[in-house]
Amino acid sequence: MEQEKIGTAQGKEETAILTVNGKTIGLPVITGTEGEKAIDISRLRQLTGYITLDLGYGNTGSCTSAITFMDGEKGILRYRGIPVGQLAEHSTFVETAYLLINGRLPIQRELQAFSVMLNDHSLVHEDMKFFFQNYPRATHPMGILSSMVTALRSFYPELETLSHTENVNMTMTRLLSKLRTMAAVSYKISRGHTPEYPRPDLSYCANFLNMMFNSPVKPYVIDDVLVKALNTFWILHADHEQNCSTSVVRMVGSARVNLYAAISAGMAALWGPLHGGANQKVVEMLEKIQAAGGDAKPFIARAKDKNDPFRLMGFGHRVYKTYDPRAKIMKNICHDVLARLKTDDPLLPIAMELEETARKDLYFIDHNLYPNVDFYSGIVLRALGIPTNMFTVMFAIGRLPGWIAQWKEDHDDPGWRLHRPRQIYVGNTVRDYVPMSQRTEAGAEPGKAAAPRSGRKPAP
Ligand code: ACO
Repeated sequence: MEQEKIGTAQGKEETAILTVNGKTIGLPVITGTEGEKAIDISRLRQLTGYITLDLGYGNTGSCTSAITFMDGEKGILRYRGIPVGQLAEHSTFVETAYLLINGRLPIQRELQAFSVMLNDHSLVHEDMKFFFQNYPRATHPMGILSSMVTALRSFYPELETLSHTENVNMTMTRLLSKLRTMAAVSYKISRGHTPEYPRPDLSYCANFLNMMFNSPVKPYVIDDVLVKALNTFWILHADHEQNCSTSVVRMVGSARVNLYAAISAGMAALWGPLHGGANQKVVEMLEKIQAAGGDAKPFIARAKDKNDPFRLMGFGHRVYKTYDPRAKIMKNICHDVLARLKTDDPLLPIAMELEETARKDLYFIDHNLYPNVDFYSGIVLRALGIPTNMFTVMFAIGRLPGWIAQWKEDHDDPGWRLHRPRQIYVGNTVRDYVPMSQRTEAGAEPGKAAAPRSGRKPAP
């Protein structure tokens, strides 16, 4: 038996032994700072001719990263080492964005300079209004915003002449500042109202609420509790390591496209109802339960039915097998905001009862399905006055610092490579082209499809 060692992780001697097709090789084991282990298979194909197959990437690390740590079993989430609960309590979204992108908390002077830059770049080009105005009325705001982010690039042709660092810093600032303005402009235009300009005297979050809701006939009154709730909402969404949209940003970015295009691609991924689109779907589901009389049990029964693609929205997570730490904080904010507004939301008791019933149910217990961040976030957003179809836009604004930090980390990695997964081909083997005149209905051959994974619920 041939044994070949293919290197070890820095300072570590742990090796995984793999025997395949009569050949034994040693694969280095990489250990993260929190003790997580990975078998480095970078040279597997070269040494054995085999690749690994991991549908949905549940066991595959696509990178090493120093940005966010999460432990799905223990319900831990930290940005640059700091627990998200501490940031939610003490930080602001702008400070958290700085932390994610730069790797450490800013000192006063740095935070001040960062805030001034965000203020200075908060206007969008007046010509952009025409883009917004000409979208068909029924367009989903996520579609508008993701294409607007790509369009933003066209307004800055001078970028080509700037150095890489200047270029990246300027683009990051513009995106962080303008995405929030563009979201508010699209809302105002969708209502047939004149967009509201950003104000230099307002903080990042207060400015957004003012641009959304201020009107010449009804001035918007800034409320500190609501501003704090929005800060917390955005902090909780600011990064989540290699989730679907972030992986898209890193993958698209690996082709060395500009940052605008990579972020736009991430936004498209986030739009999906199994990802960031879930917050909208949760509220729609709760409204359906309300319309059906408030009884959640038939919905729970459908979620458990193997033949029904319906899933309980806002429940379950690829990584968290316990309560999502963000969901706990989000649930508390619901109460804070509703108390401040001295109002009730009939969807909150429905959501709480749904959670209680589901968490006692064996199906949800066995499948480790707990509320995720989206379960209560819609109720917070409704209370702030955000329309349901803009919920995922709110998520996108929050996730932007994380996308930027992850893009930058990948971009600056000396070990950077174009992301290019492989596959196992299961289609037809070689066959001849048949001229049209010789093809018949009876002879039409169906394509060869991969066998479905047995016993699973159909995809929603
Ligand atoms: N309701 C009912 N059953 C569920 C749910 C749910 N919400 N989530 C997972 N399951 C079941 C699946 O049917 C499957 O059951 P089976 O093994 O008996 O066939 C099992 O749990 C595992 O499901 P997967 O799809 O393999 O789990 P995965 O880790 O890929 O899914 C996901 C994670 C997509 C988030 C899933 O839990 C889901 O669809 N949840 C609802 C949508 C949602 O809330 N998305 C937001 C996630 S958080 C975020 O992206 C911000």
